[in-house]
Amino acid sequence: MVGRAQPDRRQFPLVLLRLLCLLPTGLPVRSVDYNRGTDNITVRQGDTAILRCFIEDKSSKVAWLNRSGIIFAGQDKWSLDPRVELEKRTPLEYSLRIQKVDIYDEGSYTCSVQTLHHPKTSQVYLIVQVPPKISNISSDITVNEGSNVTLVCMANGRPEPVITWRHLTPTAREFEGDEEFLEILGITREQSGKYECKAANEVSTADVKQVRVTVNYPPTITESKSNESATGRQVSLKCAASAVPTPDFEWYRDDTRINNANGLEIRSTGSQSYLTVANVTEEHYGNYTCVATNKLGITNASLFLYKKILPTLPNPFPGPGTGIAGSGSMCLAVPLWLLAVSLLCLLSKC
Ligand SMILES: *[C@@H]1O[C@H](CO)[C@@H](O)[C@H](O)[C@H]1NC(C)=O
Ligand SMILES: *[C@@H]1O[C@H](CO)[C@@H](O)[C@H](O)[C@H]1NC(C)=O
Ligand SMILES: *[C@@H]1O[C@H](CO)[C@@H](O)[C@H](O)[C@H]1NC(C)=O
Ligand SMILES: *[C@@H]1O[C@H](CO)[C@@H](O)[C@H](O)[C@H]1NC(C)=O
Ligand SMILES: *[C@@H]1O[C@H](CO)[C@@H](O)[C@H](O)[C@H]1NC(C)=O
Ligand SMILES: *[C@@H]1O[C@H](CO)[C@@H](O)[C@H](O)[C@H]1NC(C)=O
Ligand SMILES: *[C@@H]1O[C@H](CO)[C@@H](O)[C@H](O)[C@H]1NC(C)=O
Ligand SMILES: *[C@@H]1O[C@H](CO)[C@@H](O)[C@H](O)[C@H]1NC(C)=O
Repeated sequence: MVGRAQPDRRQFPLVLLRLLCLLPTGLPVRSVDYNRGTDNITVRQGDTAILRCFIEDKSSKVAWLNRSGIIFAGQDKWSLDPRVELEKRTPLEYSLRIQKVDIYDEGSYTCSVQTLHHPKTSQVYLIVQVPPKISNISSDITVNEGSNVTLVCMANGRPEPVITWRHLTPTAREFEGDEEFLEILGITREQSGKYECKAANEVSTADVKQVRVTVNYPPTITESKSNESATGRQVSLKCAASAVPTPDFEWYRDDTRINNANGLEIRSTGSQSYLTVANVTEEHYGNYTCVATNKLGITNASLFLYKKILPTLPNPFPGPGTGIAGSGSMCLAVPLWLLAVSLLCLLSKC
């Protein structure tokens, strides 16, 4: 059906010309070669196309046709399309001007000139170009780590735009091939971020759009720092966790949940949490647990608050009740004594 329709449509202008007596009946219809001697004219959608045609003398019979019909026969306009006009800057010019060219104008146009016994047809093929435009792109998505993700980016344009995807990381990985679909199997947390789709053809600058992919994953504790303090001081324990969405933190003393009370304060911002003891007493020393939670999981880490023995300056007059200071100077005294013995040893070659 389609195979039959094709040659009929091609011959249609010639049949029309013959009916109008613009072509001598003897001319075999097949003698017009549509592929040879065809000039291409490339015009961008919306621009004006001028299809040039010149005649040799004013008495020639002339017509413009496209595949589906006569546009002009001599000076008579057959087409109803207001965008189509003749352009005659000289008496011998018989060019066709099409304003605001659109995709459906693409095709071959025939300028037919009959000068006495020399029928001549010249053909131009009008190519309509359209800048690339992304028509449909995936919305921003949130997925769990390990999921399979498919991003889609569709674009219009003539010629057909080439679509490329890029992960906007410092290394900006470019994905190969001309892909409307970008498939990420078993997505990892490192693969989260912005993805850029670029649709390009030679007509104008590429169209670019972005999709944000958020990858959720359960918390892992990245930092849990024990600390030490003397009594009567303020001290903090730090806990940090990596998680998406942002984790919630809880603190436990052995198995008891800690609240913001009794001189204890929990401050959590984003991926970090601090437990602060305003005034350390003996009961505060020991084992703490930091628990990080989000909707995908829970994890914990143990931290310790150690008792710090304050270094004391050697007291030349140790008084009563300065046991710690005394033991401190004892510690200092031992190495001094050892040093003295070693020195003596060296000198006396013992
Ligand atoms: C016209 O374009 C077609 C493809 O679009 C190409 O095959 C042909 O060679 C071109 N003709 C000329 C004269 O440029
Ligand atoms: C051919 O010309 C007619 C009349 O101007 C117009 O309606 C039709 O869209 C044209 N067809 C093509 C393929 O350019
Ligand atoms: C965009 O593409 C998706 C997937 O192919 C489809 O479900 C959706 O309807 C499209 N949206 C538009 C506006 O074309
Ligand atoms: C992801 O795709 C792979 C291969 O197509 C399949 O084996 C796997 O089950 C999929 N995983 C999920 C979570 O759908
Ligand atoms: C810390 O607690 C001790 C004993 O309860 C008290 O004597 C001291 O004044 C407190 N220090 C501060 C800075 O609150
Ligand atoms: C230990 O606590 C002190 C006092 O709060 C604080 O300045 C310091 O940063 C803490 N060290 C660690 C490793 O958390
Ligand atoms: C600290 O407390 C946690 C939770 O109660 C426990 O699992 C861990 O074994 C304790 N660590 C030590 C050294 O006691
Ligand atoms: C910490 O995690 C262990 C297992 O990973 C669990 O047995 C324990 O109960 C957790 N501790 C707290 C305080 O949640």
